[in-house]
Amino acid sequence: MLIVGVSGSPRNQATEYALTQALETLKEQGFETKLWTVRAKSIKYCVHCNFCLTNKVCAFQDDLKELYDSFAAANGLIFATPVYLGGISAQLKTVLDRTRSLVAADKNFFNGKVGMGITVGGDRTGGQELAQLQLHTFYLIYGMISVGGGPFGANLGANLWSKDTLEGVKLDAEGMHELKKTTKRFGEYIERYTQKQ
Ligand SMILES: Cc1cc2nc3c(=O)[nH]c(=O)nc-3n(C[C@H](O)[C@H](O)[C@H](O)COP(=O)(O)O)c2cc1C
Repeated sequence: MLIVGVSGSPRNQATEYALTQALETLKEQGFETKLWTVRAKSIKYCVHCNFCLTNKVCAFQDDLKELYDSFAAANGLIFATPVYLGGISAQLKTVLDRTRSLVAADKNFFNGKVGMGITVGGDRTGGQELAQLQLHTFYLIYGMISVGGGPFGANLGANLWSKDTLEGVKLDAEGMHELKKTTKRFGEYIERYTQKQ
């Protein structure tokens, strides 16, 4: 069973670290995992040209193609984002927007896949939950199974506090606890609700 994790940070710092931790845990549990990052990628904005509605493929053939190919085979998706002005990063938003071409070709493309979110803010309450809701809204729109960490500890998912450094996120015991709980539940949901591709 394949899990694809996407880091929405243009840096290899706190967000990518947290995502890597989650994927390592899942790998130890026997899942196949793949990490993809927006870092150093060429990604064009969706320009609402509607080319995909007619041609069932995006007008732009850039670095997103390899990611979207792996989405097709994935049982679970993890979107991890730094918090930028109380929301997800612009890079990650573009990754989400451009999936319009995937659902133009197959409206059930994402149905039944399991999704969880990781958010990392420099401030303790810098908008992590708002960013988390953006990710879960994507899952909701596309008929995915949206997974948080469950009550008593993680609720909406893994929300971390980096204090703007990699060291900071490693020291965020509460955030790391949320990550552990959410990752565990995510793996359980994939086992329970999805089938091998
Ligand atoms: C443009 C920009 C906007 C940011 N806005 C917020 C914010 O609203 N809330 C917050 O907590 N941190 C904010 N930050 C800080 C980052 O979320 C924080 O440093 C995070 O750890 C970056 O992730 P990275 O280390 O994976 O790159 C912002 C950083 C940038 C560059």
